[in-house]
Amino acid sequence: MLEAILLVGGQGTRLRPLTISTPKPMLPVAGYACTDHQIALAKKAGVGRIVMGTSYRAEVFEEHFGHGEKVGVELVYAVEDEPLGTGGAIRNAAAHLTCGPNDPVVVFNGDVLTGLDIAGLVQKWRDADADVALYLTRVEDPRAYGLVPTDANGRVLEFLEKPTTLEEIVTDQINAGCYIFKRSVIDSIPSDRPVSVERETFPELLAADRMVIGVVDDGYWLDLGTPLAFAKGSADLVRGIAPSPLLTGRTGESLIEPTAKVDSSASITGGTYIGHNAIVGAGAVIDRSVIFADVEVGSGTKITNSIVSTAAKISSDCTIVDTVIAERAQINAGANLEPGTLVFPDESVN
Ligand code: GTP
Repeated sequence: MLEAILLVGGQGTRLRPLTISTPKPMLPVAGYACTDHQIALAKKAGVGRIVMGTSYRAEVFEEHFGHGEKVGVELVYAVEDEPLGTGGAIRNAAAHLTCGPNDPVVVFNGDVLTGLDIAGLVQKWRDADADVALYLTRVEDPRAYGLVPTDANGRVLEFLEKPTTLEEIVTDQINAGCYIFKRSVIDSIPSDRPVSVERETFPELLAADRMVIGVVDDGYWLDLGTPLAFAKGSADLVRGIAPSPLLTGRTGESLIEPTAKVDSSASITGGTYIGHNAIVGAGAVIDRSVIFADVEVGSGTKITNSIVSTAAKISSDCTIVDTVIAERAQINAGANLEPGTLVFPDESVN
């Protein structure tokens, strides 16, 4: 049975204030936590057991998933009292693995939306007799990511984490946040301190001439770490541009939960998601946005490219563009929110 480690212990600072109470991987993207989409993808690839590497708001995962009874994959939790970084979290989670030293372990960042063929990546790891196989994707502007140049055989040449100078931008291939590790490699990561897998473990493996390969997959990939990316990821899922085994047959211009009450004169477009028990008034126009459960949107209000968290109340005739509204916040009638506005939980805004 294939085992996996899911890294879900980060603070999600770039998605504050949404992540004050909910860890990033548990925020709903098209109605399911990102973690739900990832577990479904892993299950499809034959993963039968997942160790969840949790730290920040660890209890939220256990309350939602339990031991995986509902998702059909056995889930166990490796909780870090103090966050150990990505490498330290992988090492800490390894204590809960049952596989042997030469077996493959799938490792996933918790904020990646992808349709990656995980089983195919495992096969490439086997074929190359690799210590680690990395999933790589290509992006137009790689500056915010970890660059991973490879040679003609796919062997990784270097790791350049978030390059700052033009000379460092030697490739458009970036680390896409999913790896296949040989179990024994994980066991060699130091266990007594925080470790970054990107800045420390991978460069050390290269320096020791270990077999690290990169596998470019040009299918859908998105890091959901920022509000803009989060809204895009949700809309892409709703419209069927991003794949998820959970949304088969439910995609279209919008995804409205059956318990939501949307006035027939409202316009809901661009891959907007409307959560359970939300209420949307007459003439409201909602485009490319994510509306969580129990939200109220008043008549005539326009919301574009924004995220509105649980039980927030937006009155009538507001204009809201590129904005993040946290849970239970109140936006009063006629408010016009500047792009980039962040509204905190329970805040009231005119
Ligand atoms: P930002 O604060 O906005 O950068 O988000 P983040 O805290 O999630 O960090 P980042 O996006 O770099 O993390 C990549 C993945 O690793 C995410 O899925 C995080 O949940 C996870 N992660 C980061 N640091 C830790 C850690 O110390 N422990 C564990 N268990 N997971 C971590």
